[in-house]
Amino acid sequence: MLDFKKEIAKSIANTVELDSCDLYSFIEVPKDSENGDYAFPCFKLAKELKKSPMIIANEIMEKIELDNEIVEKVEVVSGYLNFFINKARLAQEIVNEFSENDEIGKSDIGNGKNIVIDYSHPNIAKPFHIGHLRSTVIGQALYNIYEYLGYNVKGLNYLGDYGTQFGKMIEGYKLWGSEYDIEKDPINQMMDIYVRINNLCKEDENVLEACRDNFKKLEDGDSYCVELWKKFRELSLNEFHKIYNIIGGRFDSWDGEAYIAPKVPEVIELLNKSGKLKESEGAKIIELEDKNMPPCMIEKTNGSSTYAVRDLAAILYRAKTYDYDKSLYITSYEQVLHFKQVFETAKLLGLDEKYINGLEHVPFGMILLPTGKMSTREGTVVKLEDLLNESIQRAQKIIEEKNPELENKEEVARKVGIGAVIFNDLSNNRIKDEIFDWNALLNFQGETGPYIQYTYVRTKSIIEKTGVNLKNVFVEFLLDNDSQNILKLIYNFRNILIQVTDKNEPSILSRYLLDVAKAYSVFYNSNKVIVDDENMKNARVFLTYATGKILKTGANLLGIQMPDKM
Ligand code: ARG
Repeated sequence: MLDFKKEIAKSIANTVELDSCDLYSFIEVPKDSENGDYAFPCFKLAKELKKSPMIIANEIMEKIELDNEIVEKVEVVSGYLNFFINKARLAQEIVNEFSENDEIGKSDIGNGKNIVIDYSHPNIAKPFHIGHLRSTVIGQALYNIYEYLGYNVKGLNYLGDYGTQFGKMIEGYKLWGSEYDIEKDPINQMMDIYVRINNLCKEDENVLEACRDNFKKLEDGDSYCVELWKKFRELSLNEFHKIYNIIGGRFDSWDGEAYIAPKVPEVIELLNKSGKLKESEGAKIIELEDKNMPPCMIEKTNGSSTYAVRDLAAILYRAKTYDYDKSLYITSYEQVLHFKQVFETAKLLGLDEKYINGLEHVPFGMILLPTGKMSTREGTVVKLEDLLNESIQRAQKIIEEKNPELENKEEVARKVGIGAVIFNDLSNNRIKDEIFDWNALLNFQGETGPYIQYTYVRTKSIIEKTGVNLKNVFVEFLLDNDSQNILKLIYNFRNILIQVTDKNEPSILSRYLLDVAKAYSVFYNSNKVIVDDENMKNARVFLTYATGKILKTGANLLGIQMPDKM
């Protein structure tokens, strides 16, 4: 599609002696459309041209030559140049785009770049909690969007399958395994064993010693210990897959901490060579005082590896294996310090700059659950599968009330219920804490997944009645404000996807989809689509079709499926 901003930048460049590249980045999209579609803030040039913004604006205005077919009007308003793009041209650009391309907004700007996304990463023998859900939803959306922009993406499920707690689990299983049926309700049963053995360890030093011994054996490849560990891992994975089957999650690697652990000695060696590795009360650390951080723990007093050093080993491994340009870690903000320490320490590993600069922690806020029936006996841990199923049931109830005749009600309820949870997770700035509120999340008229789906279904039912003819769309029927508002949003779709990847912020796309749905609702409420005039009808049907296509493409990128009817 024609880049209006670039055209404007070029025309400005012809009036001043400056580089058009810079000019491009100065051009803004005004908040209020009264001020045009694009605005150029002349104060940006004041210093360099040694003139006031007003004078610069007037001078540019005098000299500027614009193609009327691209920009139909320019105004000078207090040091700004406001540009109004040609409405018919905008509409035509979009009509062309939709008739030529099926995958709207898709691009190849990421070609040749490798992105790895470390996300979801639940812990073996422990519940998949709501933080892991959020990581999964955010990671998956980013995966889809990067991929759509042509990047080569790898999703890494860095399972928490290693650590001294497995020595304890093995001991607990040895002692009481026969009392449990861990195949039946794996996570709860394993949690039970874990809590029990932990308590026993506190009472009995000998048991603790046995646990340590088990862990050592596990590390040395003792067959009994390894078999048990494998069993815990497999049973946990089966449970996790139930959740991934519901909400999605795309993983190219399931190599967890246990896979990385044997690569730790290489890190220790490199850190030793750097001369920065210090002994401190029997442990090994890297001082980060000059960076205003507590030290990064590299090796515990008992010689075992730490979470941090395994992350360092994973960085080495991923640099080698994936040659990444960006390496993203999607976790809650509780791990901000951990990643700061790890990334700082990683500078000592002698890696190429590129791999250090590519490291990026993508933190997100907490989900605050309503108290009551959803919490399990611990009071804080919620069984995710139950939560997701509850959402489906609630959606089903709403559908039952609204549209009892609907076919495939269960299938639709699934898409709506899950879509609601995913959208809810992605609809606000990720760093914000989020209150989980059933009514808000499933409100068909609110800022929700179901609202996006509902608007999409509405467009779809119109298209089903009329069919769409992309060949004969007469843009003169798309010049009114309601239509233009939608077209401007559609025009911006690709840009929105790029912004998501710039900030690793899927909510930019979620908010955008809400804007599109709202703009369409405004249009729909004040304009008839199916009118007698064939040409007008066809233009409006096109607008409806394009809206539906954007909503569906965008929602799918977020990991949300669209029902055909609801
Ligand atoms: N398993 C960890 C947890 O549940 C998250 C792992 C994050 N990824 C990483 N490379 N440290 O808290």
